[in-house]
Amino acid sequence: MIKKETIDKILETALVEEVVGDFVHLKKRGTSLIGICPFHNEKTPSFHVSPSKGIYKCFGCGKGGDSVRFIMDHEKYSYPEALKFIANKYNIEVEETEVTPEFKEEQDKRESLYIVSNYAAKFFSDKMWTSDEGKTIGLSYFKERGFREDIIKKFELGYSPDDWSALLDAAVADSYQQSFLEDVGLVIKNEQGRVYDRFRGRVMFPIHNFTGRVIGFGGRTLKTDKAVPKYVNSPESDIYHKSNVLYGLFQAKKAIRDFDNCYLVEGYADVLSVQQAGVENVVASSGTSLTVEQIRLIGRFTKSVTILYDGDAAGIKASLRGLDMILEEGLDVKVVLFPDGHDPDSYIQQLGASAFKTHVEKNQKDFIFYKTEILLHDAGNDPIKKAGVIRDVVESIAKIPDAIKASVFLRECSNLLQIEERILISELNKIKRSKDRKENQQRQNLEETIPTEFEEILNESHPVQTDEYQERDIIRVLLTYGDQLVHWEEMTDTFIGPYIITNLSDVTFINPLYSKVIQYYHDELENGYLPKEKDFIQHADVEIANMAVSMISTPYQLSENWYNMHNITVPDETEKLKGTVMGAIFHLKKKKINTIISAKQKQIQEEKDEANVMILMKEYLELKEVEKYISNYLGAVITK
Ligand code: CTP
Ligand code: MN
Repeated sequence: MIKKETIDKILETALVEEVVGDFVHLKKRGTSLIGICPFHNEKTPSFHVSPSKGIYKCFGCGKGGDSVRFIMDHEKYSYPEALKFIANKYNIEVEETEVTPEFKEEQDKRESLYIVSNYAAKFFSDKMWTSDEGKTIGLSYFKERGFREDIIKKFELGYSPDDWSALLDAAVADSYQQSFLEDVGLVIKNEQGRVYDRFRGRVMFPIHNFTGRVIGFGGRTLKTDKAVPKYVNSPESDIYHKSNVLYGLFQAKKAIRDFDNCYLVEGYADVLSVQQAGVENVVASSGTSLTVEQIRLIGRFTKSVTILYDGDAAGIKASLRGLDMILEEGLDVKVVLFPDGHDPDSYIQQLGASAFKTHVEKNQKDFIFYKTEILLHDAGNDPIKKAGVIRDVVESIAKIPDAIKASVFLRECSNLLQIEERILISELNKIKRSKDRKENQQRQNLEETIPTEFEEILNESHPVQTDEYQERDIIRVLLTYGDQLVHWEEMTDTFIGPYIITNLSDVTFINPLYSKVIQYYHDELENGYLPKEKDFIQHADVEIANMAVSMISTPYQLSENWYNMHNITVPDETEKLKGTVMGAIFHLKKKKINTIISAKQKQIQEEKDEANVMILMKEYLELKEVEKYISNYLGAVITK
């Protein structure tokens, strides 16, 4: 773990305009800098950088944060990776905390596995470019298949000599530990204890993780003998998890972001050919069916996927279900088919790059339409089968999280299916309702494990969002003014943050994120620390950091509304800080008590027993008293 002091130093040293400026061309505009947002497509700049606050914010797509957040978002780095990146830029030495020997050993071991994999990749590539066997067998194979040298080098392709221990011997001679080679499966130890190379006489495709480190290999045979497996692949290891990896992502990630699209193909050869055709945003799932992890990996770079299939019908039908999963993750999916058993590789090698590009352009089709057509074709004139198709298609549409997009598909599919849109909509609603029911049930089960009377009353009578407005303003005031010391006449000096926390100790926040912020603030105070605005902007919890940035970039909006409601004009809310703070606290309290009051009302209406009604009425009147007090107070403070 990176030491706290180092983190502080990095955060203090990094200037947001410099860190962002390395990636975005910034121009001065008033006190801030503006540029074209790197996170979404735009022509006029709406990306603002505020050097004084140390944050950036795009008013087009909403992305925002501090320097570290920028690097995390832009480079898709983890928090420590982003810190190290910035440390490197400013020549700050990164000190890591002492870790337990077990942790260190674990880290060292992983590092060794990367190193040994990298060694093997170099070994295979050296063999292919320099040894006679490598040149005449490996390199000439790739060349015969039409791959250019620059592509062969870009993907660090290689050749494993047809020998039982070529790699093992070389690695041991170069002082690498045999056990690490075993751990990543480059060598195999059999039951008799004999140790030998896994990859022999094959052309080698190193597999990189998305930061570019070699984590595994695929080795293709050069024999046409059906008894020999076409590919031998690295087994799962501490550094290689097949389901989390996409072949070619490292080489493709920049283009994927630039074009805001990712082509998905099936095999290594397809990736190479498509890249060679000048289309660099391409990855392969490598023979396994697509996993959720792989989809999320793509989702970090783009929300749009185009699948390039070879035109084999059985394979297509089998994959339809898997594609629903991509919709569910909120990605747009298009499909392109290739004719006559061609895959992207064979199509390009036979017809050339420009024919390929034209084909893709002309034949891409939204997955939903594609699915509808295939299923319809299959169903023929059978009405029962056709009803099944309708349900199947609507089920796919129901997976699309964006309601507007879903409704567009519904309309189009009603044409394709020749069925009234209204019927599709009702079908969709049915599916959604049953899904909601399931989710509600799950949520209820969860909630039942933490029943507090207060929460029950709240949940019973009010939808979740009702207090959002007031809760949000408290959080905003806390973030913006929490560390300000104030002297209000009748009270001893106090910091605003602790004052708010103390006064709201009896209030439960419904929004889980706000509740988390309150808890965090509370805990820090207990530890004797007063959180500052920057602690939120730089918060390790991304949700909190994002929220802080958006609240700080739109400062007065909410309370302005309040003041408007009360017909009061306030030039600057800091002048009326007391009104702002008290207003925020008591508006929230008022909201909460109103919720309780209406619950009480309902209880009274439903109560059959006279005696109980009397008790409830008494409670009700007490609550009304409190509410009146709060209202009076609000009136007094706000108009003051
Ligand atoms: N694959 C595998 N094991 C096999 C066959 C296939 O791991 N026995 C994986 C490989 O990742 C391969 C992908 O599935 O790249 C797609 O298979 P295929 O289309 O047969 O492979 P290509 O790479 O296209 O091979 P080629 O064009 O050289 O025949
Ligand atoms: Mn192929």
